[in-house]
Amino acid sequence: MAPGLRVGLLGYGVVGRGVAQILDARGDVEIRKILRHTPDKVTEARMTANADEILDDPDIDVIIECMGGLEPAHTYVMRAMQAGKHVVTANKKMLATHIIEIAAACETLDKKCRFEACVGGGIPWIHEILHIRRIDAVTSFRGIFNGTTNYILTRMTEEHASFAEVLAQAQAMGFAEQDPTDDVDGFDARYKGVLTCAAAFGRVPDPEEVPTFGIRGIAPCDLDYARVHGRVIKLVARGSFDGGRLALTVVPTMVREKDPLASVHDNFNGMEAESTTLGRSFYAGQGAGSLPTAHAMVQDLLSIPHPYSIDVHPSGKLAKRPAVYYVRGAKRGPLAELTAQDTGAAILTKPVSLQELKEHLVPEEGQKVFAAEIES
Ligand code: HSE
Repeated sequence: MAPGLRVGLLGYGVVGRGVAQILDARGDVEIRKILRHTPDKVTEARMTANADEILDDPDIDVIIECMGGLEPAHTYVMRAMQAGKHVVTANKKMLATHIIEIAAACETLDKKCRFEACVGGGIPWIHEILHIRRIDAVTSFRGIFNGTTNYILTRMTEEHASFAEVLAQAQAMGFAEQDPTDDVDGFDARYKGVLTCAAAFGRVPDPEEVPTFGIRGIAPCDLDYARVHGRVIKLVARGSFDGGRLALTVVPTMVREKDPLASVHDNFNGMEAESTTLGRSFYAGQGAGSLPTAHAMVQDLLSIPHPYSIDVHPSGKLAKRPAVYYVRGAKRGPLAELTAQDTGAAILTKPVSLQELKEHLVPEEGQKVFAAEIES
């Protein structure tokens, strides 16, 4: 039952325009107002630069938040719920940071906050996780949650090009942001991992506590090493919950060539969940983009009347998950006690947690460190 719902759209960038395009074409959901940044951008009767006109409008049932950033998005979401509105958001950073507070407000105020578009763009990943949980406990997940880095890794692998060359190319084509930090250093995947933990396990860590390592230091020789050993490098977020402790990491990972994640190319996302009776299930598709992300937001809007909610609690201290790592560009000395093998070009560690490994990584003179988990 979407017909009859009245929407306030917060933000009219790439995703907001996609949402308007889909809703206007449907014709059964009214976009009453659209928030623009500044008065000079107010070009239609339904647009305003004053958020109060949306948040205080009693005729708006749902706000669709696609502004991005922590503030004022967080304040607007809280105000909207307190004013009796449901929320659909694509803002992974804001939600991953404030999900405990927002989930509590949903419970107290009997409102919904849907966030499919925050994770995996158009892929119905959060929906599927919640669907699985109607029967099963989800025990673990892993996936490629960031399209920009997957695009860079794919191009580097196929063209034997350097990270800097491919990043510049991706920026020129609009695939990568001018400030690529969130993507290449793994923070974007970290927010998506945190939100997947919320949906899959009902536990959320502080994003700042999640051990995270990006792809900034990668070089063609690392991809060569992986290829020679029958592997492909992907930036993987991996979470697990044993009923007691939660583990979550974001780190480049050498997956086997036959692994389904290895066949996720370019800017696509791909994720796998493991649960008690279904076993392993795999999902892939467009992880970003105007209409795929807007599709997820409109799906969330249509699902507002359906009674699913998630119960989330802080995870407490994260568990340490030991793994073997390939490390290049780091000083040998600080890594000595963790080293199992030195190939000359790189070292392979003993099983060690990413938290512990990061404490021992000191760049060699003039080098960037690259580390990748070697999946067992
Ligand atoms: N920067 C993100 C990515 C956009 O590259 O996947 C979608 O969340």
